[in-house]
Amino acid sequence: IPVQAFDLVIFGGTGDLARRKILPALFRRHCAGQLPQDARIVGAARRALGSDGYRDLIRDALQNELSGAEIATRGEELERFLARLEYLAIDAEARDGWAALKQMLGLPSSNRVRVFYFSVGPALFAPLAEQIWTHQLADDQTRIVVEKPFGHDLASAKALNRTLAGHFDESQIYRIDHYLGKETVQNLMAIRFGNMLFEPLWNSQYVDHIQITVAESVGVDGRASYYDKSGAMRDMMQNHLMQLLCLIAMEPPAKFDPDAVRGEKLKVIRALEPVEPHHIVRGQYASAEDGAGRDDDQSYRETVEDPRSTTESYVALKAHISNWRWAGTPFYLRTGKRLVARSSVINVFFKDAPHSIFGADAGRHANLLTIRLQPNEGITLKVTIKEPGPGGMRLIDVPLDMSFAQALGADIDGAPDAYERLITDVIRGNQTLFMRGDEVEAAWAWTDPIIAGWTSRGDVPKPYDSGSTGPGDADLLMRRDEREWRGIN
Ligand code: BG6
Repeated sequence: IPVQAFDLVIFGGTGDLARRKILPALFRRHCAGQLPQDARIVGAARRALGSDGYRDLIRDALQNELSGAEIATRGEELERFLARLEYLAIDAEARDGWAALKQMLGLPSSNRVRVFYFSVGPALFAPLAEQIWTHQLADDQTRIVVEKPFGHDLASAKALNRTLAGHFDESQIYRIDHYLGKETVQNLMAIRFGNMLFEPLWNSQYVDHIQITVAESVGVDGRASYYDKSGAMRDMMQNHLMQLLCLIAMEPPAKFDPDAVRGEKLKVIRALEPVEPHHIVRGQYASAEDGAGRDDDQSYRETVEDPRSTTESYVALKAHISNWRWAGTPFYLRTGKRLVARSSVINVFFKDAPHSIFGADAGRHANLLTIRLQPNEGITLKVTIKEPGPGGMRLIDVPLDMSFAQALGADIDGAPDAYERLITDVIRGNQTLFMRGDEVEAAWAWTDPIIAGWTSRGDVPKPYDSGSTGPGDADLLMRRDEREWRGIN
């Protein structure tokens, strides 16, 4: 179903995110027939470049980003898509270009949906918001999209929220966390709230503990200067893992609508207890010189500018949610770069049956629900059955396995990727999958003391091998609780 007519202005239109994510996503929606004929996309950046030059730049970018097969089958569409693009050289901090933009957008008489995508560093949010206001480019139909990082800590996030709130209503502000646009992440809500099977058991009485793992095999190459000021806690934990935690732990919202869903997520974040220093492990991938890595890999410190950097590329922690549903159930979260595989998985470990009627020799097996977010999206439920054969009543585990690709075939391959989904939601005016200002602030309020603790204690991350599952201390964190991490694969 096509979205309504819109104008989309991408500030930072020549940047990495625009080339790698935003424009490929728009191109795919174009090919799916979802962009109306007259939808317009305007790239805006400081560089002097005409619309033709911009189209050439984006043609190259799309050819790099899309697979050969996609380009081969969609070659004609590519030119039609490029014809939608315009370019304007604009300076966020000066007067240049703004009058031309106003004219291009057909203002003041246009009443189309107008989206301003701030694909720029947060330092430019305030000047851009100010310019849009001064040049009267915004009305009720205007939406602002902002990317992470949304702030560096609570104070800066509050300042950004204040700046945006000075010019736009909260209902116009779309803070992106691209994990919320992932198909299986949304499926988490469908699994929990569309099935009778899980919800009655979804609490501390039946759940022993929950593990959330977002492992990446890539390092920080190419983004070292941003990453070294950020680290895994700010880059991944404060947002993506926190959002996954919210979706797993929240109460059922009354409706699948933006404020109902976001209100429930906020309650989870606010119920998080401060993390004890001994419940958190930081790591940094190393090379052979540090005594931990393999010599064919560059270590983290060799990749970033500061050879003595103490920024973490890995973090694992134990969190507790102080509310009626989850009191006493630990949530173990971990994320890191240069790990053994790219794998995002949520594991819900159920408790043992309270009493075994089969006697100690039969063995005891608890249920485990595994939700794989990427790759190979799917769900597996480990159930206990009798071992087949004449050997008496011995118990074994078997998986009830549903790989979405197998179950749904082509439907899942055709599913929009996160950015496609999120950008169409912006145009449609649906904020459910975007973070509200108070959510982001609450997430920082929980994160800040953890980082402050490291700084005041002079904490140095533990080295771990590239291609491993992370530092040994993360295993200790589990072993102290007589548990272990589920393997990364
Ligand atoms: C980004 C982080 O938000 O998410 C990156 O800044 C990370 O460091 C990326 O690599 C992971 O996203 P995905 O979709 O590849 O899991």
